[in-house]
Amino acid sequence: MRFDIVTIFPAMVEPAVKAGVVGRAIERGTLQVKVRDLRDYTTDRHRVVDDVAYGGGPGMVMKPEPFFRALDAIEAESAGRPMVLLTSPQGTRLTQPMVERLSGHGHLVLLCGRYEGVDERVRSRVDEEVSVGDYVLSGGELAALIVVDAVARLVPGVVGDEQSVAEDSFSRGLLDYPHYTRPAELPGAAAGLKVPDVLLSGNHAEIRRWRKREALVRTWTRRPELLATAVLDDDELKWLRELRAQRNTEVGG
Ligand code: ADE
Repeated sequence: MRFDIVTIFPAMVEPAVKAGVVGRAIERGTLQVKVRDLRDYTTDRHRVVDDVAYGGGPGMVMKPEPFFRALDAIEAESAGRPMVLLTSPQGTRLTQPMVERLSGHGHLVLLCGRYEGVDERVRSRVDEEVSVGDYVLSGGELAALIVVDAVARLVPGVVGDEQSVAEDSFSRGLLDYPHYTRPAELPGAAAGLKVPDVLLSGNHAEIRRWRKREALVRTWTRRPELLATAVLDDDELKWLRELRAQRNTEVGG
């Protein structure tokens, strides 16, 4: 899979994509990530990428032409038509189902916005505007890196353990269960922090069941709204009914 990231801060993006899971996938040739400096697509001596806003007001607006030229260059190098995303707080909020959908495209282009905004006409070349959350970042670079990381994990061969990706609880719309590693007992003030007995039991069926229930209880406690769209099996539906009944008794009592 291929990603092009168009930014005025390539130095912020380049080291980040070279690290970790994405960096290793690039080295193996499973992913191709090209970071492009928006200023390379200007034509003036000062490589200007922004200008004052028509109508006045504070802050600068990113000019449309460098984005258009960058997209022309990317499309000229691309076999098919890439999917073009603009990172912005006005976009659709990124979710795992959206990440899954994006991972089905062979080539994504991420345009990173900055300053007060991007000239509205750039949106004529954008397929989708993506927000990573309801808060404002100084620019779209971190958001673009989030999109690349989340999408890349779903590309076969990027994460070593395919099973762990498939079993990510978020792929079913639930939060993850708690994890523990050695040592089983901690010294001093942390001695009371026990590893649940079931995880030390060696009973794999019981362990699977415990994890499944913990994931459900966590989701119920922390992010109950996720349960409206989560894919639940019979056990989970039963536990959910029990949790609801328990809450109703508590509220009623
Ligand atoms: N640029 C600034 N804030 C952003 C956000 N929340 N998501 C995506 N891009 C952004």
